[in-house]
Amino acid sequence: MKKIIAMTLAAVMCAAALTACGSDAANADVQSTVSETQSASTEGASTEAQETQAASEENASTEAETADGDNVLIVGTNAEFPPFEYVGDDGEPDGFDIALIKAIGEKLGMEVQVENMEFNSLIASIGTKIDAVIAGMTVTEERAAAVDFSDTYYEAVQSVIVPADSDIKAAADLENKTIGVQLDTTGNFIADEIPGATVQAYNKGADAVNDLINGRVDAVIIDTNPAQVFAQQFEGELVALDGADFDFEAEYYAIALPKGSDLVEKVNQAIADLKADGTFDALVAQYIGEVE
Ligand code: ARG
Repeated sequence: MKKIIAMTLAAVMCAAALTACGSDAANADVQSTVSETQSASTEGASTEAQETQAASEENASTEAETADGDNVLIVGTNAEFPPFEYVGDDGEPDGFDIALIKAIGEKLGMEVQVENMEFNSLIASIGTKIDAVIAGMTVTEERAAAVDFSDTYYEAVQSVIVPADSDIKAAADLENKTIGVQLDTTGNFIADEIPGATVQAYNKGADAVNDLINGRVDAVIIDTNPAQVFAQQFEGELVALDGADFDFEAEYYAIALPKGSDLVEKVNQAIADLKADGTFDALVAQYIGEVE
C-alpha cells in the first residue's frame, strides 16, 4: 500500500511541475493508471474505504503508520452498542464511533478497516489482530494497564433498564436481583458489586434485553445511550432509569492503542482537530442527538 501511495504522490508532484514531467495528457494517463492499480489493490473494499483512501492521499504529508509499518489502521469494535456501533443495513459496522474513527483516519492519512469482534476479546487482540479499538470503551485502570488510551471523547454513565411496571427505582432495589449485563463491560463490573445480585453476562447487550423482556432477568445495566435505544425498541414495556438514581459514576470513552504506540499523540491531535473544525459535533448530532 505504501508504494502505491508514493507513486500517486509522484504523479501529483509531476502534475504540479508540468515542465519536468512532459505533457498534460501523459500526466493524466499516469494518474489514471495509478488509481486503477489502487482500486484493484483494495480488493473488494467498500466505496467508503476508497474515499478514505482518496482523502489519505491529500493528507499524505501527515501520513501515519501502524506498528507493522503500513498505513492501514485495523480497528476492532463490537457492533452491538447503538448508537456508537451497530451493524448497518448494508451489513457493515456503522455508528458514531465508526464515523469518528474514519474521520480520524482521514486526518492521519490512514485507511481504516473495521473488524467486528466480541467485546471481551478486543483488548487482548490489540497489537496482534487489530491496531486499535473503538467500542464505546470506558477508560479503566485495569484496561489502562494493558493498553494506552487516547484522550477521552465522550462522557457516559450506566443506566438501569427495567420493565415499565418494575419496583426497582434506586440502588438498594437492585440487591438480591438477577441482573443482565454485557460480558466484561463496566456494567458487568458494577453488577458484580451489588450485594446478593445474580449476574447474567451475555456476549451482546441486546440478548440481555431480550431476557429482560422474557422475565429471565430483573434489570439490565448498560451505558445510557444504548439503554435508551434498547428501551425505545420496547416502548411501553421497558424503561431506562437514570444512573444518577443509582449513584453510578461518570465514565469516559477513549480509543485504545498498543502500549507505547506513537499513534496515541497523532490520534489525540486528530480528535482535537475534529473538535475544532466542527466535525465532531456534527457526528454527535448525526448519530447521538440530544440525550434526555
Ligand atoms: N462502556 C462500557 C465498557 O467500556 C461498555 C462498552 C460496550 N461496547 C460495545 N461496543 N459493546 O465496558
